Amino acid sequence: MQINNVLITGAAGFIGSNLVDYLLEKTDWKITAIDNLSTGNKKNIEQHINNPRFKFIEDSIKNVTSLKSYDCIFHLAALPRIQPSFEFVTEHISENLTNSMHLIEVMIKESHFPKFVFSSSSAIYGTPKTIPTPETEAIDCLSPYAFQKYEVERYLELLSTRYPLNYVNLRYFNPYGPRSYNPDNKFNAYSSVVGIFLYRHNNGQVPLVTGDGSQKRDFIHVYDLAKANYLAAINTNILNTAFNIGNGDTLSVLDLAKLISDKYEFIPKREGESDITFADVAKAKKLLNWFPEHNIKDFIKSNI
Ligand SMILES: NC(=O)c1ccc[n+]([C@@H]2O[C@H](COP(=O)([O-])OP(=O)(O)OC[C@H]3O[C@@H](n4cnc5c(N)ncnc54)[C@H](O)[C@@H]3O)[C@@H](O)[C@H]2O)c1
Repeated sequence: MQINNVLITGAAGFIGSNLVDYLLEKTDWKITAIDNLSTGNKKNIEQHINNPRFKFIEDSIKNVTSLKSYDCIFHLAALPRIQPSFEFVTEHISENLTNSMHLIEVMIKESHFPKFVFSSSSAIYGTPKTIPTPETEAIDCLSPYAFQKYEVERYLELLSTRYPLNYVNLRYFNPYGPRSYNPDNKFNAYSSVVGIFLYRHNNGQVPLVTGDGSQKRDFIHVYDLAKANYLAAINTNILNTAFNIGNGDTLSVLDLAKLISDKYEFIPKREGESDITFADVAKAKKLLNWFPEHNIKDFIKSNI
């Protein structure tokens, strides 16, 4: 199917706003962006407000009544933090699961099944046994957030046995890049560790390393995530499957702190977080022809 009109949910957030930038630059698609600004920031997209190919709707996705005009939906809207999902459980179920199902129900009611590129998470693997971790790894959700992401994946799989759904799940590893840290977000303490460490360092504070810092992360630049979304959308033969989107290497949180600052402090380990994330990205390379282009060390050098 030819893509002309797309919807990006959660477009004022970190990854969503970078996806808006990417698609406006690389395609001639018309982009509708929806965000209720619960954790996002309008400033992230305001540079595009006068672009005739861009339209912003400030609303919750739960109020979406039609998706008929779209050829592709990039679904990023969520409350995307592990720790708060333990505390505000029903709110996270409603935002991460029910609202996602609402979009799918609208597609079913309208019998219109655009490509649906869903932002899932490596959190669904918990602490994986296979390193690097392929998509076939056993699921082991350590938090309500991870569980909600996995539930959406399973609903998509189940409903696709009855309806001609057309989805791709992208399991992001540990994203970093411009706008990853929003100081106005009430959950900012749980956003990307790269963004938090850089923000603290650049504001005269030392990085706070959780546990002993030996936990390893596969850091992936947000540009590479945006490219994966684009490739998932345009590859019409790639349907109803999941891809790991990581860099395919790791850095410990302590080594990350050392790259940013000579001084750092330790805070207690948090439950519900994996000891290691390390993506096997062979499937995305082979089927999407997707290759990460960025390197975390270069990003840090140019941001301190
Ligand atoms: N950043 C990460 O570490 C990470 C890792 C894996 C997966 N993901 C997933 O990627 C997606 C984007 O994450 P992010 O890091 O950009 O987070 P973010 O908080 O910066 O962006 C999420 C956006 O969704 C919006 N939103 C929330 N509920 C909404 C609703 N009901 N209606 C409309 N908009 C709503 C928020 O206002 C925000 O702008 C999420 O689905 C997240 O679960 C993120």
